[in-house]
Amino acid sequence: MTAAQSSRHPITSGVSVTPGHTSVLLEEVLTALAPRDGGIYVDGTLGGGGYTRRILETADCTVWGIDRDPDAIARNADLVAQYAGQLHLLAGRFGDMDSLLREKGVSAVDGVALDLGVSSPQIDTPERGFSFASDGPLDMRMERAGESAADVVNTANEADLARILRELGEERHAKRIARAIVAARSNGEIATTGQLADIVRTAIPTSRSTHIDPATRTFQALRIHVNDELGELQRGLVAAERILRPEGRLAIVSFHSLEDRRVKSFLRTRSGGGGRGSRHFPDRPARHAPAWLLVSRRAIRPGDGEIKNNARARSARLRVAERTAEPSWGGEESAAVGGAG
Ligand SMILES: C[S@@+](CC[C@H](N)C(=O)[O-])C[C@H]1O[C@@H](n2cnc3c(N)ncnc32)[C@H](O)[C@@H]1O
Repeated sequence: MTAAQSSRHPITSGVSVTPGHTSVLLEEVLTALAPRDGGIYVDGTLGGGGYTRRILETADCTVWGIDRDPDAIARNADLVAQYAGQLHLLAGRFGDMDSLLREKGVSAVDGVALDLGVSSPQIDTPERGFSFASDGPLDMRMERAGESAADVVNTANEADLARILRELGEERHAKRIARAIVAARSNGEIATTGQLADIVRTAIPTSRSTHIDPATRTFQALRIHVNDELGELQRGLVAAERILRPEGRLAIVSFHSLEDRRVKSFLRTRSGGGGRGSRHFPDRPARHAPAWLLVSRRAIRPGDGEIKNNARARSARLRVAERTAEPSWGGEESAAVGGAG
């Protein structure tokens, strides 16, 4: 970074609070990426721009910020102006990062950061329909396009609803909730987050030990389903493997076990030189050389201070891996990444 830049963009305290969003594990992600002058970095989940800003404050480098939410792209216009020529934003999905970047003439990068899930502005804007904390349309689409949560809740059959709630919400009472949803919609469309939350709260008991709202798991499941978050995660891991140059780093923060299990399984498998041919997959290459080196064997967790200041950090886990010089394994079988849901 030039002297002029460092005085224009002073490095802040290590806490990035963009309007409405506090970045999680910010310093740990930065340490993992170790941005260097001249490097090219991808922030695949731009959100409030917290990671991107910090990367740009640290080195005289280029950042490609990707977000599937048009609001997040618009919110970072000032940052683009501040780092003109260094920061480029792309509206799209991180699962497509390799093709999105190739279209821009970028074929290899030095680091990829992914901070999974939703941002505080998405959760806290009732019109986006992600939250049951205040009433809003039952939407939940990060992209503001495609099938909404209301479409799913009002059209999926009972068995499919139960499967979504069980697999993506790890909801023990999935069948009971699915039955209640189908019964409720026979009286008219379920259109708001408040209506759905009330149906779930009436259908199942509140846990006496945790006092967590009974609707929490149902909302998580629908959000993951509507946005195909686990499919995106799988595609994102494969895309990062394709685009990172040797010694390039992946830093990925997940917020629940469904995500972390997949990240861990993907990186373990592909750092271990496994993937022998088998009689079940005769076309599979006989053996892959390790595409990754695990930088941390265990997930990195936020410290008590961060958790105290930011409740969202409580469940965060960061995994870091470094790309080897071996070819990418590709993305042909989901079995290799622990089965995306
Ligand atoms: C937790 S926030 C990121 C916050 C950001 N790290 C910061 O410090 O401000 C997640 C963001 O990723 C976006 N997102 C989630 N899944 C995505 C995907 N598959 N492709 C692109 N963006 C995605 C969401 O729209 C949201 O804006």
